[in-house]
Order: sequence, then structure tokens, then C-alpha cells
Amino acid sequence: MRGTQCINQKGHLTIGGVDTVDLAKKYGTPLFVYDTALIREKAEAFKKAFETYPHIKWQVAYASKAFSSVAMVQLIHQLDLSLDVVSGGELFTAVKAGFPAERIHFHGNNKTEEELIFALDEQIGMIIVDNFYEIQLLEKLCMERGRTIDILLRLTPGIEAHTHDYIMTGQEDSKFGFNLGDHSIDEAIQLTSASNYLKLNGLHCHIGSQIFETDGFELAIKRIYQYIENWSEKYDFEPRVLNVGGGFGIKYSKDDQPIPLKRYIDVIVNTITNESEAKGCAIPEIWVEPGRAIVGEAGTTLYSIGAYKDIPNVKKYLAVDGGMTDNLRPSLYQAKYDAVVANRANEELEETVTVAGKCCESGDILIQDAQLSKSVSGDILAVFCTGAYGYSMANHYNRLPKPAVVFVEEGDAQLTMRRETYEDLVRQDIMLQEIAKAGY
Ligand code: LLP
Repeated sequence: MRGTQCINQKGHLTIGGVDTVDLAKKYGTPLFVYDTALIREKAEAFKKAFETYPHIKWQVAYASKAFSSVAMVQLIHQLDLSLDVVSGGELFTAVKAGFPAERIHFHGNNKTEEELIFALDEQIGMIIVDNFYEIQLLEKLCMERGRTIDILLRLTPGIEAHTHDYIMTGQEDSKFGFNLGDHSIDEAIQLTSASNYLKLNGLHCHIGSQIFETDGFELAIKRIYQYIENWSEKYDFEPRVLNVGGGFGIKYSKDDQPIPLKRYIDVIVNTITNESEAKGCAIPEIWVEPGRAIVGEAGTTLYSIGAYKDIPNVKKYLAVDGGMTDNLRPSLYQAKYDAVVANRANEELEETVTVAGKCCESGDILIQDAQLSKSVSGDILAVFCTGAYGYSMANHYNRLPKPAVVFVEEGDAQLTMRRETYEDLVRQDIMLQEIAKAGY
């Protein structure tokens, strides 16, 4: 059980003091349920970790790619975090949510001209520039508008963090950022620190996702500082901001052993402080960009159980009314999840079943060999820890409508995203008769 999850007297799973079986009845399934108290708790944990270092300036930017909706961005605003967006669509969501533009940071390895113009028009606070094409494009756009823009340069430190360890990648093979190893970052610093339009504030790096140790962050920071004196001498550049990205690991299932958020922040702050002192430069503002660590554990997906298929001596399948359309992660990354039969949450775990989705694809399996209580068609299955990269990677395969999203807290449920209807699915379709009439 995570956050505010409990079992009530009826033996039903509750989240935020709300019975999940009632939620399924009221809003239908599949349904994303967010425990907003847990989102607050995670945001506070990051803020508190930084607040133990009063001499450090910092920003925690929620990586909205993990889950972006107008209500979610509004919640992030209430929590006083900054916001990382990676597309015109995520930026539009932030604008609609009334998020303060100066605290929006724009990422992406191939931002289009249209997206950059949108970001400039909205006067957002920081663009994280990824490549030489973007430097040129942004310079041109700023020149045409007679204005400047604050930027960070994204660099690839040649470290790739994996779930439980990290490796140095000699060839620094990544589509993101300017590589340290081949000195393209030096050229980018030279170009932008001399620019009249791009105001180079500092550097960004992101070493990976679902990281369970601190060594990768420490190593990346140390690698960057190896070049600091050189950049200062050659280009008179010292980073005012150092953004070390996101990637803080969470507990999807019992196999995952995350470390406390404070431990990452301690290592990041201490390494940057020590390295700055050793190189005789000012301690930069420290920025982090958690996505999954803010929303992942707060999300639960409710499904209705439909068909069973029992293959004697092989396995028993249980099928739900969603699948790879609302959670692509098991098919894409073999990600593991835990589940409970929400209306039998205190019953013995008697069955080992494979939870299948309803898509026309054999790989549409949500959980292999889940330990569940004995269930029947019509029961509600709650799959935990689906808050990050679930809805945000949802798709329309087999023309399944996207689920609804509710926020629950202190006994109240609020619908924050409506379930898509069949009409929504065909909204952009054009009938052949219309094509003929309109002469498309
Ligand atoms: N900052 C940057 C520059 C990133 O590229 C990412 C994630 C984050 C922050 C946030 O990472 P987080 O704290 O959420 O791990 N779809 C994959 C995850 C892709 C992550 C891409 N970048 C998944 O479902 O695991």
C-alpha cells in the first residue's frame, strides 16, 4: 500500500479516502486515479531536501512528459514547482493551466520553428538548447524579433545510468545534446557565449531514468567540472545554472528498491559544492527535473475484469478492459507492475494469473503471473504505480478511447480529464462524401 491507500470495512481498496469500487462505478473503467496527497508529499520531499542547504539556490521542475494535463499542471503550480515541457502540446497545456511562463523550461532534440516561436511569444523562462541547428534557428528567431532568450546547453556527459548500475559509454551514443567527449559542447559554448541573442545561463544533463543509486549523478557532475576551468579561460563562461535532469527511481513492484529522494539531492548538492570550491568558481543554481518520482506512485489504474482463459497446465489469463493503449510500458520495456482485486482487497492471494489487455496483439500483457485473490468477471482490478508515462503514452490502437482521470483527496474525487467518446475518436475523420464536396 502506498500513499493514502487503505482497505475499508467492505474489503475494498480506497485511495484518498475514496472507495475505488465506487469510483469505477461512477466514472467507468479503465480509470486513472491520482492520489494528490502523495503528489504533494513527493514535491515537498524534493523541496525539503534542498531547503537543508540554505546557501544553495535551486529549482525543482516537474517533467510534465510523465503526465501532463491542465489540472496536473495547475497542481504543480500550487506546489510552487517549475515545469519542464518538451513539445508545443505540453507548452500549450501549461499556458492553458495559467502556469507562470518564467518558470517554464523547454526541452527537446528537435524543436520545430513553430514551437520555438510559440515559446518566445509566451516569454518562457528557459530554453534548453540541444544542437547546432537549434542554436542557428533560435538566433534567427530572436534577431527577427529584436530580443534575447535565456538558454541552457544540454550536454551528454558520456555516462548512461541504468536501473541498478551505470556504464561509461565511450562513443557517447545519444541523440540528445552536445557531447563532452568530442568537444561539440565547447563549440556550442563558444558560439552561444558570444551571441547577442542567446543568453547562456548554464548547462543541463540527464543521465537516464529509474535510477536507484547516486554514483551516476556524481560521476556526471565530476566529468562536467573537469572542463570548467577550460571553459572559463577560453570563453569566459561559468555556469550560473547547473541542471542535472531527472531519473530518480520509484517502486513499481517489490523488485525495486528506491533510495530516499534526499539522498540523491545530498549527493548532487555536495558534489557540485565540492567541485565548485575545488575549481574556485561560484556554486551554480542547482536544478532537477523529476517526472516519475513526482507522479508515478500516485497513479493507480482501475480496470473491469472481463474474460478468463484457463489453459490447463499452462496458465490462466484474466483480461481487462484496457491494456497497452493506457499502459504501454509492459509491452515496450517489459515493465513490472503489482495489482490487487479492488473489491476483494483483503482476501487471500489464491491465484496466479496473467493479466492481459484487450488489444489485438499477443504482447498486450499488463502483468505476467500476478498473485491475486480469486476473482470473477465484473470485479475491479487496480494496477498500482501507473501515474508516470501511463496516460502520457496512451494511444488509440484498435480505436480504444482514452480513459478518464480523477484526482482523489480527503474523501473527495474530482474528474480532471473526461473519458474519450467514440465521437472524439472520429472527430478528425473526413467522410468520402465530404471530400468530394469540399474538393480536398
Ligand atoms: N529530464 C529530461 C531531460 C528527460 O529526458 C526526462 C525523461 C526527465 C527529465 C524525467 O525523467 P524521470 O524523472 O521521469 O525518470 N517513457 C519512459 C521514460 C522516458 C523518459 C524520458 N526522459 C518510461 O516510461 O519509463
